[in-house]
Parts: sequence; C-alpha cells; structure tokens
Amino acid sequence: MKFFIDTASLAQIKEAQDLGILDGVTTNPSLMAKEGITGTDRVMKHYVDICNIVSGDVSAEVIATDFDGMVREGENLAALHPNITVKLPMTREGVKAIKHFSGKGIKTNCTLVFSAGQALLAAKAGATYVSPFVGRLDDISTDGMQLIEQIRTIYDNYGFSTQILAASIRHPMHIIQCAEIGADVATCPLSAITALFEHPLTTIGLEKFLADHKKAAQQPAAAK
Ligand code: G3P
Repeated sequence: MKFFIDTASLAQIKEAQDLGILDGVTTNPSLMAKEGITGTDRVMKHYVDICNIVSGDVSAEVIATDFDGMVREGENLAALHPNITVKLPMTREGVKAIKHFSGKGIKTNCTLVFSAGQALLAAKAGATYVSPFVGRLDDISTDGMQLIEQIRTIYDNYGFSTQILAASIRHPMHIIQCAEIGADVATCPLSAITALFEHPLTTIGLEKFLADHKKAAQQPAAAK
C-alpha cells in the first residue's frame, strides 16, 4: 500500500519524505488555505515546491465546477510537473472532465466520493485514483471502511485499474484497516503515519537492551 501525506505543509511533507516511506501527496483547497496559500501564482508555485520534495504523485485540485473551467485549470496544473495529478470533484462535470483527461493521458484523482456507485462512475471514466472519504463517513455514523471494501470488490470484479486512494484518514487504525482490505493508497495526516512507529514494548525493549549493554560494559573484564 502506498503512503501519501494529506497536507499542503512543506515542513510536514519534508518530514514524511525524510522518513523514507512517502509515496506521494494529496492537497485540497482547505489544506492550501490552512497554510495561507492564496492567489493563483502562489498556489501554482506551491505545487511545484511540493513536487520538488517528493518523487511520487501530487494531487492538485481544481476550483472550477464547470467542465470548461475544470479542463482549463486542470491543463494548467498538469503542465506544472509530470507528477501532478489533477483532482476533480465527483460531479457530472467532474466525471466528464476525468474522461477528457484520461483520454489525454493526464492523471486524475476523483475526490469527494462517498458511495460505491460514485466510485464505479469514476472508474468507468478512467480515473487514475478514486478518493473515498473514510473519516467523514464515520463522522455521520456510517462505516467508512465498509465503503473501501465495497469498492475493492467492485474494482476486482471487473479489473478496473483505478487505484483506491483512501482519504479522510484520521488515525493509525484506519491505515491498518485499509491495508487489510487492500486499498492501493492511504493518504494520511503526518500524525497518523508517525503513530504507526509507536509500541510500548518496543520502547521498553530498547531501553532494556541499552541498559544491559551499558551494565556489561562497566563490569571488570574478568567478571564478564
Ligand atoms: O483528502 C481528503 C481529506 O483531506 C479530507 O480529510 O479529515 O478533512 O475529512 P478530512
């Protein structure tokens, strides 16, 4: 399973990249706004900055909601860097734009997916990635992980090549469950990724190894 980081923070992207386990980045207009990145020029430069940190795919979302606007914006985004994936919303116009871009060999990510039917439409249009929002479904008392399972089954039934990019991941258990189901990608906040490192027995075990090593080193040679 690929690990993407879901942020527009260059510091967090660098930190995840330095861990050696990062495969890509997803952003959205809310995440860009959170970093204070506004205005077309700054936004475009920010995407290039992200592409210069990570070697995998970087999702850049269009703001337009009409087909022509999405195509115009998407083409500008795709021209920024070969790793840019044009992120488009799950709407009629969005699906038409995905079909347009897939015909031109431009990578796409269909976002704001909350049902299996929407995921089926995205795959039929030739989306590179589909982004089901796990956490936001959980937020409304609906099992987000069940949607990942449904989409996995449907895509496997027909051999769709669209990759399931589990989004709105909130905690490490979401990541584990995605891996068990067979999601292709999980896009996560940095905190959910780094939480995977932690286990109290690892901490205790390492402390004991180091303490034993130190004790042995302090003993006289004859007693060893
Ligand atoms: O990639 C989509 C993701 O950013 C949404 O996450 O936590 O706002 O539901 P969240």
